[in-house]
Amino acid sequence: MQLMLFPDYQKYTSNNKNKVFAKPFVKWAGGKTQIIPEIDKRLPIELKKGKKMRYIEPFVGSGAVLFHILNNYNIKDAFIIDLNKDLITLYNVIKNNISELINYLKKIENEYKKLPEYKRKEYYYIKREEYNKSKENKIMKAALLMFLNKTCYNGLYRVNSKGEFNVPFGRYKNPKILDEENLRNVSKILQKVEIIHGDFEISREFVDNNSLIYFDPPYRPLSNTSNFTSYSQNSFDDNEQIRLKHFFDYITSLGAKGILSNSDPKNTDPNDNFFDELYKGYIIERIYAKRMINSKGKNRGFITELLIRNYEK
Ligand SMILES: C[S@@+](CC[C@H](N)C(=O)[O-])C[C@H]1O[C@@H](n2cnc3c(N)ncnc32)[C@H](O)[C@@H]1O
Repeated sequence: MQLMLFPDYQKYTSNNKNKVFAKPFVKWAGGKTQIIPEIDKRLPIELKKGKKMRYIEPFVGSGAVLFHILNNYNIKDAFIIDLNKDLITLYNVIKNNISELINYLKKIENEYKKLPEYKRKEYYYIKREEYNKSKENKIMKAALLMFLNKTCYNGLYRVNSKGEFNVPFGRYKNPKILDEENLRNVSKILQKVEIIHGDFEISREFVDNNSLIYFDPPYRPLSNTSNFTSYSQNSFDDNEQIRLKHFFDYITSLGAKGILSNSDPKNTDPNDNFFDELYKGYIIERIYAKRMINSKGKNRGFITELLIRNYEK
């Protein structure tokens, strides 16, 4: 097992054929930036040789792998899906209304940066309320989500039972609220991407034998105390993991290339064979990763993660 830590993101996106370099525009729980080198090593050989493939990412989150692939490989078209409606709205606004979004963000950034530190917290909570109330203006709502993501605690996205965003203020010294160059690059690169709100199985409509699908579902909790699977109001329990495995079988039967990451339950219980049994017959590998989000400081450290695929490279 090779140990690759703290990779330089740009280094793994330097083979840039599109001359546009885009990177994730939000911080997201389970973001995959740090394991990109491990995923890249395992991408299908035909993609690496320049074949034009269709790319599908049904749990897109902040899109670390999506942008890596769009920056570096020959992608015919792409489809991204997520169950988080506001995140998908933000992707669509970046794709279709980039200048208006940037104007809103400039205004918010100016207001925020002008405030003395003790006033910023107050401003954050005003904007959080505005975000939860705003329904009609999707561009404004997208700008507010970006602002909250950059200034909230750990860049988390969490909602209460009423669906209200409830993450507290994050106390960053100098958060970068607007990265205009990257947002414009993201907008350009998203022009060939179909952005869809909904369940991962929607991708059934687009999969063919020339597709590469990367699945990064909400993690099965590593221990009983970590419950960071609640990205939205729906939780992703073992039955959901089993439903996903059936879908993985389905795309395999079509001849599509599938690669899936997940947490490794063996980190906390060496006898837990849940994924080893569920994905028996597929290629299952364990790679090292650094745990990014954990409520208990002492549990931050090196853990293994699973990479499962249905093809030899
Ligand atoms: C581990 S995160 C993906 C992180 C992503 N790979 C990144 O680099 O940021 C899982 C994502 O799946 C989404 N999700 C949860 N249940 C889903 C479902 N049934 N169908 C589609 N997306 C779902 C969550 O909203 C979340 O954004």
